[in-house]
Amino acid sequence: MRSFHSLLLALTSLVALTHALQYRGADFSSLINVENQGVRYKHNGQTQPFETILKNQGCNLARIRIWTSNNYNEYNLAYGLALAKRAAAAGMDIYVDLHYSDTWADPGKQAIPSSWPKDLAGLNTKIYEYTRDVVLAFQNQGTPAKYIELGNEINSGMLWPVGRVSNNNFNNLSELLHSAAAGARAASSSVKTMVHLANGWNWGTVDWFFSGVYLPGKLATSDVDVLAFSLYPFYGTGASLSALRSSLTQTANKFGKEIMVVETNWPAVCSGVTLSEKFPVSAAGQSQWLNEVKNIVNGLPNGRGTGLLYWEPGWIGNANLGSSCSDALLVDPSGSTRSSVNMFAA
Ligand SMILES: *[C@@H]1O[C@H](CO)[C@@H](O)[C@H](O)[C@H]1NC(C)=O
Repeated sequence: MRSFHSLLLALTSLVALTHALQYRGADFSSLINVENQGVRYKHNGQTQPFETILKNQGCNLARIRIWTSNNYNEYNLAYGLALAKRAAAAGMDIYVDLHYSDTWADPGKQAIPSSWPKDLAGLNTKIYEYTRDVVLAFQNQGTPAKYIELGNEINSGMLWPVGRVSNNNFNNLSELLHSAAAGARAASSSVKTMVHLANGWNWGTVDWFFSGVYLPGKLATSDVDVLAFSLYPFYGTGASLSALRSSLTQTANKFGKEIMVVETNWPAVCSGVTLSEKFPVSAAGQSQWLNEVKNIVNGLPNGRGTGLLYWEPGWIGNANLGSSCSDALLVDPSGSTRSSVNMFAA
């Protein structure tokens, strides 16, 4: 009986090991800007477009951030479309990350675009039309979005102050997300809508948010296809792998939906920062972190986990952005890939 049990266990882990995570992706939105500064990328000594290197390693999903800025190099729609052409030509699926802001949106800032209305009714109309039009634009150039993210790291809402969550009041955010999702559905019957939070390891936050955001007549569970999370090891020791496994498992069990870790990285160079796991600060440590996260996502109940994406693996010249470590790239300062680029392998 005992040996039958261990045989079963061995078989189950074998199945888990041989089942590849569907999406191994990256957000390399900065690529065109970085190339314009003269950076080129090399794999095994051979210079190649970065998207080609990533694709050849197994990267199959390109996350592209879009801001409402008028400037091309500030991730406006034209910039995103140009990047999507290259990613799609390399063979990747497209994932569009809408910030609904002229600049970075994250849990600390969610400014309404300067040209948008500033009241709830006006914003509902605007976010519907804008989301619809962005999905249509990607579709019309032949690079349809598989995924559309409705706001970036919206733990405290978006389009502040109107869509801010305060005193546990999700009313305005719930309406705005419903309008955004309706816009996406109006443009495409197949695009998958995502709601994205920071700190996916924190079950308290995740549970509070998704217990509050669905409201009758506003955001419906059917409006949302994917729950997406960021996971950074350098903002606090709480972002451990065991906390991630626990949080995402409970998320899958309580809220269902497809689940992805859509932003993560691990440093290759870092000092003076306490990381959430005791892995080396090196390419080997990066691989270790990514393999562990990949296994956690891949092992979620009912196959809910579908993707893991690296955040900005090639942003040379700005390697520490979004990090408290000096370099969390998958390439070295000369643009040559580190061994950790193998994270995209199935
Ligand atoms: C939500 O929208 C209503 C209606 O426009 C507005 O009165 C209220 O101030 C908004 N809430 C916040 C937090 O801005």
